[in-house]
Order: sequence, then structure tokens, then C-alpha cells
Amino acid sequence: MNYSIETNALETLKSDLLVVGVYSNQQLTFAAKAIDVAMNGLLTSIINRGDIAGKLNDTLLLNVIPNSQIERILLVGLGEQKPLTAKNYRKALAAAINVVKKLNVNSIAVSLADCDVEKADLTLKTRQIVEVFEDALYQFTECKTQPADEIKLKNIVILATDSTAQTGLAQGLAISGGVRLAKHLADLPPNICTPTFLAQQALTLAGTFEAIETTILDVADMEKLGMGSLLGVTRGSREPAKLISIEYKGGEANAKPIVFVGKGLTFDAGGISLKPGAGMDEMKYDMCGGAAVLGTLQAAAELNLPLNIVGLIPATENLPDGQACKPGDVLTSMSGKTIEVLNTDAEGRLILCDTLTYAKRFNPEVVIDLATLTGAVLVALGRVPSGLLGNDDALCNDLISASETANDSVWRLPLWEEYQEQLKSNFADLANIGGKDAGTITAACFLANFTEDFRWAHLDIAGTAWRTGSAKGATGRPVPLLTQYLLNRVHA
Ligand code: BES
Ligand code: MN
Ligand code: ZN
Repeated sequence: MNYSIETNALETLKSDLLVVGVYSNQQLTFAAKAIDVAMNGLLTSIINRGDIAGKLNDTLLLNVIPNSQIERILLVGLGEQKPLTAKNYRKALAAAINVVKKLNVNSIAVSLADCDVEKADLTLKTRQIVEVFEDALYQFTECKTQPADEIKLKNIVILATDSTAQTGLAQGLAISGGVRLAKHLADLPPNICTPTFLAQQALTLAGTFEAIETTILDVADMEKLGMGSLLGVTRGSREPAKLISIEYKGGEANAKPIVFVGKGLTFDAGGISLKPGAGMDEMKYDMCGGAAVLGTLQAAAELNLPLNIVGLIPATENLPDGQACKPGDVLTSMSGKTIEVLNTDAEGRLILCDTLTYAKRFNPEVVIDLATLTGAVLVALGRVPSGLLGNDDALCNDLISASETANDSVWRLPLWEEYQEQLKSNFADLANIGGKDAGTITAACFLANFTEDFRWAHLDIAGTAWRTGSAKGATGRPVPLLTQYLLNRVHA
């Protein structure tokens, strides 16, 4: 999709379709009023006739506009005339693009950056337009032999009052590009998106961006490092595990990096503690943390952020076979701590703990891991926010504040030492499961044993990284949140 910003007068606009907003009190937005005047009150007369009430999500397509260089107009309801909440603004944008994408139009002009939105300037509004549109225009077609419904739209012109919209456009394109990459990798079937495939993606990023360097550690390298916990998980799989390391050097040579660690389980069958069959296909999404790390690094590189960032992705499958790790096995992690595996399906923490230990050698400013770690986070929080836990209040608050700006919500859960009791083992330093209570917290508590030397936060994205049911598909979360966190670090 091509996007551009247009700051010239509306009267001279030429377009296949113009999107304008109308409130429920029948008032048009600022730009829409100008159009209405230029069209001798056409819009007012249609609204007065009662053809569109202006409620949020209402849409009305006028597909014949006499004597005009604008061939169609799409009226979009914005609800009450007052500053829109960011959520409602995004809903209105989604309503608009979902109508447009089914039409036979090549180019559209969008005037919706002119309405007031709470806590949003023109930059942020422009960015939201791009993000919401790109989200709606995403299609996963790679594995279908019959083409999906073709989207004819090619050009989107965003009407804006000044050039600060350009910054929003650049941010929006970078973030949606990162989201698109994360969604695509996640939606790919697990027989294509293997650990080796993910590693190739990381190498491709390094080929595209001068500031990115990728290193792939293979099983032999991990053996040398003593990553017995990660290697325990991979034993039941025939796909070789990879530890992907991506370094983006946009900052001063001596600036400490922000390290992201993303769970890259390309298929989680549960191992010997096999999962039930229903819905098991969705465990191809167990690499969404890793995909979001790739997406975020791509966005950071595209925006040329003056930061040093490291992305680490432990990538493996979790499958049962005769070599697989068994309940009762004791693994020795890279940190030296021993782990009794009581359930081979609690494998995410086993690959993350060695990666977190490895992260130390980058001398990190902060470490943020993101993982589809527990089904329990769905019980606690549903599919709305990601779970947030961490050992540093300032870092957690930074993430909360970034999540609000980015419309990519998180909710913090406690990481109190009392919960460590649940991880006691009779036979090793730690057990890999903590019983049925507070599963998201005990999973994070497990990781906390490997993050004592740095500021660390953990995002449990098992409820937010993909949608289930008829709209099954990846969301690309938390790429918007993490990119916003990085943008805030630049401007801090
Ligand atoms: N990848 C799963 C978590 C998951 C489960 C995400 C369902 C989304 C939906 C993880 O590896 C896992 O299996 N966790 C177990 C932990 C348990 C054995 C302590 C879980 O949540 O059931
Ligand atoms: Mn599992
Ligand atoms: Zn898993």
C-alpha cells in the first residue's frame, strides 16, 4: 500500500473516494464541513434526511457525486461530538477501511486526522490511521491455491493540516511493517516456520539493514555454553534448535543495549506431557514472542532509532519421542542451577532461563522477555491485556505508559517472593511447575531466578498474540508496545 500526506486545500482534491467523519449530533468534522461547502451542502442534506445517524461505526457510502473530482464519499459515524477516546477512534477507522477494502477503488483520501482524539496529536492520529488500516488490510494467502478476495486499493492519501503528519506516517509504516512481519511468521504453518526458518528471517534482517548483525548459535554452540535446560526441551525434536541473536547498533558504541528475549517455540505439542488434541494447531503460535522480537527490531531499524538493541530468540520445537526429556528428568541450566522437569509442557521457561542467563553477557540496560508462556494468563486476564511482571518498578511503569500510548495494553501482576515456595523441588534446585494456583505468576517467578543481575520485565502474551475462533490469526502484539517503549527511550 502506498501512503502519502496531503496538506493542500481540499477544494482541489481529486480522488476515487473521500472518507469523512460525522458526529451523532449531525455535525461534520472540520474537513468534512469544507467539502460540504464545496459541494453546495450535499453532505448536510443527506445527513438531514436521516440516512446516517453518526453513531460510532455507522457508515454510509455515497457512490455517485455529481460534478465533482471526488467520485465517492464514505461518511463514518464518530459518535458524540467530543474528543474521541483512542479506542473509539480506532473503531471508526476500522469501520471505514472495512467498507473501503471491499470496493473497487484504487485510491482514497482520508480526512479523519482532523477530529479531536484524547491525548493524541496529529502525529499520533496519523500513525493510528496507518496502523489500523494496515491491520485490516493484512491477508495471509501464502498457502491457498485459490486467490483470496483481491483488495483493489493501492493508494491512501491522508489529509492533514501540517507536515508533523509525516512523522506519524513514518512511525505508522515502521510499526505496521513490524506487526506484519510478526503476524506473517506466526500465521505460517509449523512445517514451514521451523527454528531454521526463523533463523533465516533474522539473517534476512541483517542483510536489509546496515545496523543489524545476526549470529545464529547451533546445538553444538549451546552445548559449549552449557545450556542444558534449553537443550533438554529440544531433545525430542528432529528440527535442530537455534539460538538467534540479533544486534541493532543505532546508538553510541558504549551505550548499554536494551535486550529483548522472545520465546520461539515453533510448535509446542507438550512433549511427553502431551497436550490434548483439540486446538493443538494453535501451538504453532508458540513462537509469537520471537516473531515480535523480529518485528520490533525491524521497526527500530527502519526508524533509525539512536539506541543499541539486542534481540535473542531461543527457537525449537517441543515434541515427544524416544529421546525426549521426561517428567522427573533433572536438567542443569547454564546458570548452574538444576531444574526438575515435572511437566515437559512447561517448556517455555526452560528455554527462556538459559537465554536470560546468556543475555547477561550483553551488559544490558534492561531485559524484556515476551512469551506465550501460560494458559493461566487467559484465565486471569482473558485476551485483552498482556500480563506484565518484573523486578523493577520503573521499567514496569515505562512499559505500562508505552502500552497506553500504543493501544497495546498490559496489566501488571505481582511477583512476590511468597510464590517461590510453589517452585520447590525435592530433587533439584527448582521445579519447572508451581501447581495449579497462580500459573502465570509462578512461571514468571521461575524466570526471576535467572534475572537477579539486571532490571527485567516479562510479558506473558499467550492471550494477546493471536485470535482464536473464526477470526483465527496472529495480532502482531506486542510490537506496537515495544516500539513505543523504544520511541519513549529516545525522547526521554
Ligand atoms: N505454550 C504454552 C502456553 C499456552 C497454552 C499458550 C495455551 C496459549 C494457550 C506453554 O508452553 C504451556 O504449555 N504452558 C503450560 C504450563 C503448565 C504445564 C504449568 C500451561 O499453561 O498449561
Ligand atoms: Mn508447553
Ligand atoms: Zn509453550
